[in-house]
Amino acid sequence: MANVTVIGAQWGDEGKGKIVDWLASRADAVVRFQGGHNAGHTLVVGDKVYKLSLLPSGIVTGTLSVIGNGVVLDPWALKAEIEKLEGQGVTITPDNFAIADNCPLILPLHRDLDGLRETAAGAGKIGTTGRGIGPAYEDKVGRRAIRVCDLAHLDHLEPQLDRLCAHHDALRAGFDQPPVDREELLADLREIAPFVLQFAQPVWKRLKKVRKAGAKILFEGAQGVLLDVDHGTYPFVTSSNTVSGTAAAGSGLGPGSTGFVLGIVKAYTTRVGSGPFPTELNDDVGQRLGERGHEFGTVTGRQRRCGWFDAVLVRQSCAISGVTGIALTKLDVLDGFDAVRICTGYRLDGKILDYFPSHAADQAAVEPIYEEMEGWRETTAGARSWADLPAQAIKYIQRVQELIETPVALVSTSPEREDTILVRDPFLDRG
Ligand code: GDP
Ligand code: IMO
Ligand code: MG
Repeated sequence: MANVTVIGAQWGDEGKGKIVDWLASRADAVVRFQGGHNAGHTLVVGDKVYKLSLLPSGIVTGTLSVIGNGVVLDPWALKAEIEKLEGQGVTITPDNFAIADNCPLILPLHRDLDGLRETAAGAGKIGTTGRGIGPAYEDKVGRRAIRVCDLAHLDHLEPQLDRLCAHHDALRAGFDQPPVDREELLADLREIAPFVLQFAQPVWKRLKKVRKAGAKILFEGAQGVLLDVDHGTYPFVTSSNTVSGTAAAGSGLGPGSTGFVLGIVKAYTTRVGSGPFPTELNDDVGQRLGERGHEFGTVTGRQRRCGWFDAVLVRQSCAISGVTGIALTKLDVLDGFDAVRICTGYRLDGKILDYFPSHAADQAAVEPIYEEMEGWRETTAGARSWADLPAQAIKYIQRVQELIETPVALVSTSPEREDTILVRDPFLDRG
């Protein structure tokens, strides 16, 4: 079996969508296993641009696309996204799209709470996407979530609503908000239920069937390892585990199913939202990276913070997530720089660190130690083979893989699907 698990190895927006779309035509199924519509994955195919938040990127190639139980699902956002994609000519039916019936729902009350908390947090705010992701995961773990399968049993929802509202009404009162309008919530759920239920099923069964000899499953991660609730820059993280191991638990398959772990790595670093970022550049160079890389959030439109490549962070992400090989993306954004820098270590309280410490104060205090390399004047944009790359760009790639102790499997040189250099096919990997 040659499954592939795609995960972000930085703070998200590494180009996962583009790579998943490129790989999707060789897969039998594409599965989202965590996160929700906080993700924003952009796919460029010819003159068409697709922006996906909740749907697996495989939907555009017509590959069976599955939302696993590890995702938190906003049914209204789902409907809007399906309608938008259908408007772009993408076909979405129960034949090519399935939702785990044990997937927890994001409700309007989760979005309310996300916003209220962020406003109240003042300088301590996380800078969430405001989509209710954190509160929905809290309710899942707190055993008071409404799940997809509940949509078929709305006449028996009272005990669950009692538990859910007992919790939320107390929180809302603290924010001077009225209690949850249960009638309105039930009416909204009744209205959306048939739409969601047409796709709902025990997807572990469907995936089990897919896993016949030679079948390939592509797991599509959202966010990135540094936003992982355990391993990321806590508390400035998302509320799910974004590491590769989640692919199994979040879709109903065993731990051996993740296959080749493809870490998606941007050739520099970006972050959206609050939190530490050692190589952040608040100068012309940072601005130039942002402009050349069009670094604006797909979901919230916020400007992404930009900085040099941080090899310490990516080495750590690759180790934590068992990355087999990386896809290095947005190399073309570095075209035309006289010199490029890579962070190879940190200085903290007079000591040199070769890892990112766990405490938020230390994470904020570390000073990057840089290595400088000569840049390249030639363009890498649109390169589709190693031979198309200038010698200095190749040296940069080689230095990156040396420092992160992980080989490069793919290189991406533009937003366009086909502008991708294949070094080692993840689906053919047996090692
Ligand atoms: P994701 O969240 O990891 O899927 O990444 P996003 O889609 O949020 O952000 C990546 C952005 O970079 C998107 O606008 C992509 O179209 C674009 N992109 C992806 N790969 C490349 C690349 O190699 N070069 C350039 N210039 N843009 C890229
Ligand atoms: P993709 O899949 C980048 C960030 C938010 C915020 C933090 C918590 O496109 O890479 P949340 O709404 O999840 O509670 O916000 O996580 N964040 C992302 N940043 N890319 C993403 O997804 C993100 N999803 C969440 O900006 O800092
Ligand atoms: Mg994104």
